[in-house]
Amino acid sequence: MTKPTFYITTPIYYPNDTLHIGHSYTTVAADALARYKRLRGYDVMYLTGTDEHGQKIQKRAEEAGKDVMEFLDEIIAWIRDLWDKLDISYDDFIRTTEPRHTKVVEEIFERLIEQGDIYLDAYEGWYCTPCESFWAERELKDGKCPDCGREVHFVREPSYFFRMSKYVDRLLQFYEENPDFIQPESRKNEMINNFIKPGLQDLCVSRTSFDWGVRVRSNPKHVVYVWLDALTNYITAIGYGSDNPADREKFERYWPANVHFVGKEIVRFHVIYWPIILMALGLPLPKKVYGHGFLLMKDGKMSKSKGNVIDPKLLIERYGSDAIRYFLLREIPFGQDGVFTPDSLVERLNYDLANDLGNLVHRTTAMVHKFSGGVIPVPAGYQAQDQALIDLALQTVKDVEAHMDEMQFSLALSDIWKVVRQANKYIDDTAPWALYKNGDTDRLNTVLYTMTDVIRMVAVLIQPFLPRTASEILRRYKIDAEAAKWDALYSFGAASSGQTVEQGNPLFPRLDIKAELAALAELTGKRAGTEAAAQTATKQEVKQVSEKQTQEQQVVEKSNLIGIDTFSQVELRVGQIQSAERVEGADKLLKLQVDLGSEVRQIVSGIAKHFTTDELVGQKVVVVANLKPVKLRGVQSNGMILAASEGDLLKLVTVPETIPNGAVVK
Ligand code: MSP
Repeated sequence: MTKPTFYITTPIYYPNDTLHIGHSYTTVAADALARYKRLRGYDVMYLTGTDEHGQKIQKRAEEAGKDVMEFLDEIIAWIRDLWDKLDISYDDFIRTTEPRHTKVVEEIFERLIEQGDIYLDAYEGWYCTPCESFWAERELKDGKCPDCGREVHFVREPSYFFRMSKYVDRLLQFYEENPDFIQPESRKNEMINNFIKPGLQDLCVSRTSFDWGVRVRSNPKHVVYVWLDALTNYITAIGYGSDNPADREKFERYWPANVHFVGKEIVRFHVIYWPIILMALGLPLPKKVYGHGFLLMKDGKMSKSKGNVIDPKLLIERYGSDAIRYFLLREIPFGQDGVFTPDSLVERLNYDLANDLGNLVHRTTAMVHKFSGGVIPVPAGYQAQDQALIDLALQTVKDVEAHMDEMQFSLALSDIWKVVRQANKYIDDTAPWALYKNGDTDRLNTVLYTMTDVIRMVAVLIQPFLPRTASEILRRYKIDAEAAKWDALYSFGAASSGQTVEQGNPLFPRLDIKAELAALAELTGKRAGTEAAAQTATKQEVKQVSEKQTQEQQVVEKSNLIGIDTFSQVELRVGQIQSAERVEGADKLLKLQVDLGSEVRQIVSGIAKHFTTDELVGQKVVVVANLKPVKLRGVQSNGMILAASEGDLLKLVTVPETIPNGAVVK
């Protein structure tokens, strides 16, 4: 049986410089969808590449004192290395300087001249070189580029034009008949109101004032306008116009594309010019163009001159590729803008990855070893408590599928994390350590098996987003290939009893927040901004985004009340103090080792004046178990113990001996 196909593309990036974390965002999102579709049994074609022609590139190479191809080759090597480091599973990488592309662009241009869709005239108007876009006087904003706010310059040169106006009615009809073509929906009205209603101008499609581009065959003084050249990559890469029958077959197989992922600033090119070019060529139109939002910095858009760009390779080196992928996909709802802050990155990594997912796997592995000799046990009948978790996991598969259909990656991840959190709670509620102590082996085996198979399901579900972590979990739990398939998510119980689970290092380290924030400040390398005007415009954008993000928080702050959701984020557990010793040079501090059932935690507490070390050992206390680690007098503290105080009086909040270590306080 032939598989259904799924063709997904990213924009092809300008290699005038190395890429930043914003560019990585599009590519990571497309990768998550490509991986997901492969898991769902599709024959996926995931295309990315580089847009190598145009004035901007030529200028940059000259400034660098390099031959243009030599300049490009170095940057393309850097970009491919970035995609390798981020585990981007692209199927093809197109460079617009490759003959498979340039030859076809030349031919298309000639054909469109012959058809009368392209005609020779002269252009007079404004040009924004960084955006490579033409603007009429009335479209400028305060005399600057309406897209990026930068200087434009006046161009007067003979040019070929594309008769866009001829196709406007067909385009509007296409929008009408395909209401899902432009996503999110709001971008469609923006396009119609801003560009189509005022009257779509014929597009200038050649330049003569520089020569770094595809030459027009019948008139080589002209080079093809870089956007016409670039958009065509989506068809040349899969064999359109090739003489080779295998290439042509490939084109038939994958075209039309299922989705083009693009940043919102280039939606216009993809939903107006690109469909019209395709109509002129008599080709079907892509099924969807998804215009996602921007990843902004606190002081606006990322830009080299502002000194606020983040090199994704430095982030990957420090935190690993999965952590960065997770952050990008979880933090910013796809389609909306989001602000990158070091705090939000560290919090996501500490809470979601180290605390929730990492801890779930670590605890479970530790318990399978401690209570079952490292072997996945055979379950002995499920009870309501188990079934509730199993049902949630099975329902989550449906939720994730629905959110992936809508390309809502942050929601799909949030669905998965509900299971992760619930599984941690299940462990607390079922208290396997108590079952072990009481010799309740049947129940213990069921609980351990349930934990294990939920972890299997989580590992399969996170494959598109965190591919490395997923394979590491599947490897440690010896999940066979069949049980790691998406279809194996529709029923519970595919993990193999009898397999020995491998213990390993924590999947994600807990980060020291202070140290990380200092390191991240260094990585962003703050420099005074120079683009004052652009900065003000984008600050407005950041303000709107942050306002939205903090709305909920403000409601809470005003009333001084917190919701149950906020409270339940605090993880309180029963711990037993195993040892206590004074911290040198600090008369108030004690270093405690506290047994939390599945681990022993070091906690530094300011209670030295109230207790002798001996009277503390053996006490059962309440521990705030998910506090960010801090260093007190150079000693790491991973939590806090609760105490009540009044004046000089201080007493520990204690728990009866019968409650096992690790039990949840709620
Ligand atoms: N070469 C054109 C695209 C041609 S596609 C036929 C181009 N290249 S670009 O390198 O300037 O940017 C490409 C894409 O990078 C943007 O559309 C967007 O997808 C992504 N991003 C660049 N900065 C970004 C952020 N700060 N945030 C999110 N995405 C960003 O335009």
